[in-house]
Amino acid sequence: MTDGRDNQHDASTRFAHLGRPRPGLGTPVNPAVERASTLLFERSEDLYRDDIRGYGRHGSNVHDALKTLFCELEGGATAQLYPSGVMACTQPVLSFVKPGDHVLLTDSAYGPTRFFGQTFLRQMGVELELYDPHIGAGIADLMRDTTSVVLLESPGSLTFEIQDIPAICAVAREAGAVSIIDNTWSAGLTLNPLALGADISTHSATKYFGGHGDLLFGAAICAGEEHGAKLAKTAKQLGVASSPDDAYQVLRGFRSVTTRFAKQAATAQALAIWLGQHAEVLQVLHPGHPDHPDHALWQRDFTGGGCLFSVVLTERSHARVDAFINALRLFGIGYSYGGFESLAIHCDPQLKRRHADALPGPLVRFACGLEDADDLIADIEQAFAASA
Ligand SMILES: Cc1ncc(COP(=O)(O)O)c(C=O)c1O
Repeated sequence: MTDGRDNQHDASTRFAHLGRPRPGLGTPVNPAVERASTLLFERSEDLYRDDIRGYGRHGSNVHDALKTLFCELEGGATAQLYPSGVMACTQPVLSFVKPGDHVLLTDSAYGPTRFFGQTFLRQMGVELELYDPHIGAGIADLMRDTTSVVLLESPGSLTFEIQDIPAICAVAREAGAVSIIDNTWSAGLTLNPLALGADISTHSATKYFGGHGDLLFGAAICAGEEHGAKLAKTAKQLGVASSPDDAYQVLRGFRSVTTRFAKQAATAQALAIWLGQHAEVLQVLHPGHPDHPDHALWQRDFTGGGCLFSVVLTERSHARVDAFINALRLFGIGYSYGGFESLAIHCDPQLKRRHADALPGPLVRFACGLEDADDLIADIEQAFAASA
């Protein structure tokens, strides 16, 4: 492998060159996929060595290359891979909690993360407390002697609040709690939470890195070796393993992610600005929009946007919101984002947050794909007209 941290080059250059086999006499451009549960050894005594892989669940060359790229993405010391993004959100928490502990989770978090906290953690005797995403340094008032983990997500899923990451993580660190942030939205390309004080940054690689809506994968990047070792131990104890084929597709996605991400983020920004002026739209929930309440905080910590945002529509019935989405021709109706195809969902049926009632109208979320921005705008315009 031609690995090794390279801070001199742009991300697109680094992602094109890292985690690749050294050229020989006809070497493939990426590490070859090795499918195996059993790994074979010539000598019996080698089976029990700690310094080599003994079994398929322990990974492969493709997994190692992918870990190198995830570390490179955010300057992490270690990376742990998971078979889904949800697992990247939930498994790291299990490494740091015990019965009697207290965990803080932003009220704006991705639904299944919240579900995990309210069910699995509670069954373990761990108390989950939701906090206002805008709490900032005020989170100090919620910290207890038993607080072991603080979970962040910025922007928030569906409602796109920006959190004061440095302030929250500084309080967590001071109190001896581990801060873990879901950084899926930015792909690690426009936000580096580890540089802002977070201990662990998690990704649903299903989104931008998979890039094609056809696989599930997750990763957690740790700022320090110690946290990384704990994640690795939990994964080993629970038997977490990911398919080499999926890992390969994510590795392949890394090679082109900066280009796809830039186009998708630019399209989202263009659509957000256009929708902000539309009579059918009350409010645009995209932190890159100048009218977003957290725009200044976003400008301070992020270097750009993502492909996903929501809009609050003017008062209309759920049936009319569904009619609008059904009338879209270029947007698929489905969960997720970061793939080549644009998607739209009506969020209200899944808005369980305390603040959901505060929204002045129905919420629709758009995920921008690789289509032309003007074509997407024309599609939204005709769908508004068709459902008027
Ligand atoms: C912010 C966020 N985190 C985590 C996940 C979970 O990822 P996966 O679908 O790979 O399990 C998602 C999926 O939509 C997400 O949007």
